[in-house]
Amino acid sequence: MTSRKRIGIGVVGFGWMGQAHSRSYLRIPTLFPERTYDPELVIISDNVQERVDDAVASFGFREGCTDWDEVIHHDDVDVVSICAPNMLHEPLAIAAAEAGKHVFCEKPVGGTPEQTVRIEAAARAAGIITGVGYNYRWAPLVQYAKQLIDSGELGEISNYRGRFFSMYGSDPMGLLSWRFMLDEAGHGVSSDILSHSIDLAHMLVGPIDKVVGTGHTFIPERPLPKAGGTHYDRGQPGDPTGSVENEDYFGAMVVFENGARGVFESSRSIVGPESQCAFEVYGTKGALRWNLETMNQLDLFLVDSPARGYTRVYGGERYPYHGNFVPGDANAIGYEDLKTIEDFEFLSSVAAGRRHVPGFAEAIDYVSVQQALLTSWKSERWESVTRLAPR
Ligand SMILES: NC(=O)c1ccc[n+]([C@@H]2O[C@H](COP(=O)([O-])OP(=O)(O)OC[C@H]3O[C@@H](n4cnc5c(N)ncnc54)[C@H](O)[C@@H]3O)[C@@H](O)[C@H]2O)c1
Repeated sequence: MTSRKRIGIGVVGFGWMGQAHSRSYLRIPTLFPERTYDPELVIISDNVQERVDDAVASFGFREGCTDWDEVIHHDDVDVVSICAPNMLHEPLAIAAAEAGKHVFCEKPVGGTPEQTVRIEAAARAAGIITGVGYNYRWAPLVQYAKQLIDSGELGEISNYRGRFFSMYGSDPMGLLSWRFMLDEAGHGVSSDILSHSIDLAHMLVGPIDKVVGTGHTFIPERPLPKAGGTHYDRGQPGDPTGSVENEDYFGAMVVFENGARGVFESSRSIVGPESQCAFEVYGTKGALRWNLETMNQLDLFLVDSPARGYTRVYGGERYPYHGNFVPGDANAIGYEDLKTIEDFEFLSSVAAGRRHVPGFAEAIDYVSVQQALLTSWKSERWESVTRLAPR
């Protein structure tokens, strides 16, 4: 039997993402026999004591605490997994970097481009390995799409359409949770879900050179949150309300460095598409399209194919990672499987001591575009993308 390195994990925040990553760390040994390490759930922190207790009792964390500083300075922790609300990412990531821990941070790394720049600088100075939760990169059919594009099957890429439409903010009775506050979340959809769309475009087509964009807040007031509630709770008509401080919508046109043209749209308050992180890529020899809502399908059009038209490709074990979860063809995998691939790959980079992609450098790629978009929203003009930190 090969001896595997032990990687001690400390998680901060035990909501949706904290639980998803913790399940992933637990599942990696059962799904990835090729791994070179074994993750160990050392310590969990959440400011809600019941969540800490649940993490220890149900997930098997060795220790739990409500003060995240204990996670950062725990001797047995090698990797800090930041799954807390956005406003904590900067203090957490900088403290963890200064303590010499490797950091996986949920997106957005910073709520604003300025925060992301400070976080990336601290990580670079500390020489730690960083990872970011741009999980849609890891979908097996997205990986296959990248292989097709990189191998030239689609020819020269001329057009890209990316969108992330979600209904999580579509109910005006949805509470004014941290996601709607500038000092807690940072910007709105441009920090939150547009970051996924642009990150996918960066991976598939390459860097973006210039942008023009506009944002909007469609639901400017929401019921105030109640103590102990979650992001998914609803208020009642007549409840006291507060102002939404960041944008519900962002739309943009872009020019890629390779000359391709792109359009992006992102909304959290739209009605209809429930979690539509989707893209279409058009090249001189073919085209493809993928949508998270049907993540086990990719539609592929090849000009030279005798059967003219889009062909539906179903996910299966012949595509990257799929066979780690389920054998055969067209047996579906799910959302949390992407988080598990993400964690498997990040911990593989940590075990090997190599830079990880996507890491904080890729987050800088994104916020450089975001900064240009925010500037364009104000100036109502095309703006060039200037990288906000050295590569
Ligand atoms: N990659 C993705 O697809 C994806 C999806 C959802 C969320 N996210 C990101 O993950 C992060 C967390 O989002 P979520 O949906 O899990 O939120 P959530 O509200 O479900 O969970 C956040 C948790 O952090 C805890 N917390 C708050 N303050 C804390 C503190 N001081 N110390 C320790 N814990 C504290 C809360 O009690 C809660 O349990 C955000 O940055 C979000 O943008 C990423």
